[in-house]
Order: sequence, then C-alpha cells, then structure tokens
Amino acid sequence: MSRKTTLSLIMGTTFVLGSVALNCTATPLATDKCAYCHGDTGNSDYDHVPNIAGFSTFYFTDAINSYGLGDRPSEDFKADGHEETNMKAVVASLTDKEIAELAKYYASQEFTARDQKVNAKLAKRGKRPYRKCRKCHTANGSDPDDDAGILAGQSMSYLKAQLQYFKKGTRTQPRKMAKAFKKLRKGDIKKLLHFFASQK
Ligand code: HEC
Ligand code: HEC
Repeated sequence: MSRKTTLSLIMGTTFVLGSVALNCTATPLATDKCAYCHGDTGNSDYDHVPNIAGFSTFYFTDAINSYGLGDRPSEDFKADGHEETNMKAVVASLTDKEIAELAKYYASQEFTARDQKVNAKLAKRGKRPYRKCRKCHTANGSDPDDDAGILAGQSMSYLKAQLQYFKKGTRTQPRKMAKAFKKLRKGDIKKLLHFFASQK
C-alpha cells in the first residue's frame, strides 16, 4: 500500500459514537509540526496559543495563508523542550497539499473550551455589544461554519492580542467588521472577551 493510501485510510477512520466524534489517529504532520504548541487534537494548554480544533477548512486555510501573505503578525513562541519559532516560519515549511491535509484533520477534531477565569458580571454585560458581532460570529461565536473562526471558549489572551492587532491595523480585518468595531463603546472589548470565554 502506498504511503498516500495509508494516509487517506487513517484520515478516513472517524467513528461517530453518539455525539462524541473520535478521530483515532492524528496525521503524522500535525504530530510533528503542530502538536507541541497546539496540543494533540488542536486544543492547546498554552495561554498564548489558540485552539484550532473544529475550525472550518475554509477559515483554517484562510488563516494559514494570511500568515504566509503577511496579512497578520505572528508572535514568536517557545514551547517546553522545543526551539522558539512562529506561525510565519511554520507556514513557510508547508506545501498546499499539506495545508489541505491539516485543514481536514483539525476540522474533524472537537474544540474544547479553555479553562480560564471568567468574570460573570462582565460576561453578562458582553451580551449587548455581542449584538454587533453576531451576524458573522453566529451562535455566540461557537459555530465554525460561519467561517469566521471560533471565539466561544477560545483563549482570552489570544483573542485580546488579535483585537489589538485589528485595532493597530497589523492584522487585516474584514471591512464590515471594522465598521462594527467603530460602534463599540469604552469597556466593550473587555466585556466581549469575558462573554466569549464564558461560552462552554
Ligand atoms: C511554536 C508554537 C507553534 C507551532 C509549532 C505551531 N503554531 Fe500555530 N499558532 C501559534 C501561535 C502563538 C499562534 C497565534 C499567533 C499570533 O497570532 O501571533 C498560532 C496561530 C495559529 C492559527 C490561527 C488561529 C486562528 O484562530 O486564527 C492556526 C490556524 C495555526 N496556528 C495552525 C498551526 C498548524 C497547522 C501548525 C502546524 C503545521 C502550527 N500552527 C504550529 C503557535 C504555534
Ligand atoms: C461582517 C462580518 C463580521 C462582523 C460584524 C464581525 N466580524 Fe469578526 N471576523 C469576521 C471574519 C470573516 C473573520 C475571519 C477573517 C479574518 O481573519 O480576516 C473575523 C475574525 C475575528 C477575530 C479573529 C478570530 C481568530 O480566531 O483569530 C476576532 C477576535 C473577531 N473577529 C472579533 C469580532 C468581534 C468582537 C466583533 C463584534 C464587535 C466582530 N468580530 C464582528 C467577520 C465579522
């Protein structure tokens, strides 16, 4: 059996048991190049590293390509026992075929909400400004099929950094999203961060 056939067989081995989707084997590529920062299934233990499990293949591919194009910054990161690197360098080492393989693998994994401290009062107050986001970040930011990432349960430190990039203009944002941001009031960002973090 060729390596390619073996791989597609492994990738195809997804058993759905009730509501629990189990993907038995990670692609070797994800294990070698991504797992030490993003976790085995795309749910990271590191504060500054986002979860990537469950992303739609569209959003995943778009995010990966935007690092390559320089449309978003990529913070250097050092995982325990590994050399420091960043997403731009990681992406430069991938072929389009590998990106497609990884997109498929992570889309098949289940996103686990981060265990982080949430201020319940702020989370509740975040419901109101969320109305300006919900058209695109549907189901409280939890639906991967809106192709705008997963905000619900995502690392707050990561989201906070991204919002700062959008504000500074170092990460390109959709024009209509920029319009929604202009309508936010003072303190809304903090409320929104707690609102998204409170979603399980
Ligand atoms: C050294 C640690 C490290 C490694 C290795 C790594 N990443 Fe990342 N990844 C990060 C960090 C940190 C960020 C956030 C970077 C930023 O925005 O500055 C990130 C962001 C991402 C994002 C964007 C998430 C979003 O919500 O938009 C995707 C997708 C991603 N990584 C996929 C991968 C894949 C696939 C691999 C393996 C081929 C990989 N990463 C390897 C640390 C890493
Ligand atoms: C018109 C649609 C639209 C609106 C409205 C919108 N967004 Fe977005 N947002 C997107 C899309 C599309 C992306 C992903 C594309 C990209 O990265 O450029 C995104 C990406 C993001 C990201 C980065 C996610 C990640 O994983 O890195 C954050 C954070 C975010 N939006 C927050 C918000 C907040 C908060 C609001 C409301 C104040 C909002 N957005 C309103 C469409 C929208």
